[in-house]
Amino acid sequence: MNVMITGGAGFIGSHLVRLFVNKYPDSRIINVDKLTYAGNLANLSDIEDRPNYTFVKADICDYDEMLRIMKEHDIDGVIHLAAESHVDRSILDPFTFARTNVMGTLSLLQAAKVCWESKPEGYEGKLFYHISTDEVYGALELTDPEGVESPFATTASSSEHHLAFGTEFFLESTKYNPHSPYSASKASSDHFVRAYHDTYGMPTLVTNCSNNYGPYQFPEKLIPLFINNIRHGKPLPVYGKGENVRDWLFVEDHARAIDLIFHKGKPGDTYNIGGFNEWKNIDLIKVIIKTVDRLLGNPEGASEHLITFVTDRKGHDMRYAIDSRKLQRELGWEPSLQFEEGIEKTVRWYLDNQEWMDRITSGDYRDYYEKMYAGR
Ligand code: NAD
Ligand code: TYD
Repeated sequence: MNVMITGGAGFIGSHLVRLFVNKYPDSRIINVDKLTYAGNLANLSDIEDRPNYTFVKADICDYDEMLRIMKEHDIDGVIHLAAESHVDRSILDPFTFARTNVMGTLSLLQAAKVCWESKPEGYEGKLFYHISTDEVYGALELTDPEGVESPFATTASSSEHHLAFGTEFFLESTKYNPHSPYSASKASSDHFVRAYHDTYGMPTLVTNCSNNYGPYQFPEKLIPLFINNIRHGKPLPVYGKGENVRDWLFVEDHARAIDLIFHKGKPGDTYNIGGFNEWKNIDLIKVIIKTVDRLLGNPEGASEHLITFVTDRKGHDMRYAIDSRKLQRELGWEPSLQFEEGIEKTVRWYLDNQEWMDRITSGDYRDYYEKMYAGR
């Protein structure tokens, strides 16, 4: 099979590309990425020379280029992750989010349609799989601010922290109600994907996942930003009172879910993917501080003074919590890592890969890789 993965140089995309390149040596994996500030080919340096891997630098908004790539590589399946993904940036620059997330997805859908409809077999054996977010469902209320026993705790949830902070959860049937320009653009792209299924009969899938954490995440997102700031003794900017709740999933578990759904999911369907793992930001931040201090050999709590409460994010969604029992029931997926294990692995990775982090924060990684790929 020839699989196009868009956004493969980003955080989740790089884990997915690595998984597919290693697991499917007889498939060809084509990574299409524009290499925006968030795209980093260093995330894939371990697999870049594999014979079943090809990198193409391109913008998903460029319809002609998408069609050319689809035809040249005879693409059977698209797994679409390329996006602008940071809520804070979307508040400052919504147009870029509409362009990439909405128009980019539309140009890719249309390229897939034209390419596949021109084949004798049509849509037979083809699949367009769109990766989306739980943020499209809006925000849940914090009805249990101290947390109660989670109805969905699994062996992969935290060993000591089986908490839910409300009685409602996002289901596949939950009505879309996005609040940020980011989630509004993702919601719109999800609608276009379903429209191509319903209108043209394109085999499509959409999954909506909760917050991911793990290695290779761009350090503007909470967990890598805070790990890096603790290492440098810099303030940790906690929005509002730190009471917002997110449901965290280890990125490799998301990649495993995508693999399973790509191969076994029912075309036309939607699956929620979540960690069964809700944390209030402030509690999560304390776990990160504790882990970083321990691994750096600092006394316990040494970096807690770095916590700095700052003005809240505009329109900050209070709680996200996914009910992913459909995926569990129908395809047998569960997160594999317990949260403490995942956080330890993540903190250790960032501390062991300071060069990766320093190159991003100093901004010169892009020049390095642009040069490396020039002429290839
Ligand atoms: P990321 O920002 O780390 O990576 C995005 C990648 O897309 C980058 O490599 C970037 O260069 C590429 N890209 C951006 N614009 C492009 C364009 N116009 N053309 C081609 N490539 C372009 O994002 P991520 O966190 O890995 O998220 C990947 C996908 O998963 C996104 O669609 C996001 O909405 C979704 N998602 C993310 C999370 C999360 O917690 N990170 C959770 C659920 C869903
Ligand atoms: P983030 O990683 O940006 O993911 P998302 O907004 O998509 O959930 O943020 C996770 C949570 O952490 C969110 O509630 C916002 C909060 N946050 C802070 O308190 N301080 C920060 O500096 C950042 C980046 C996020």
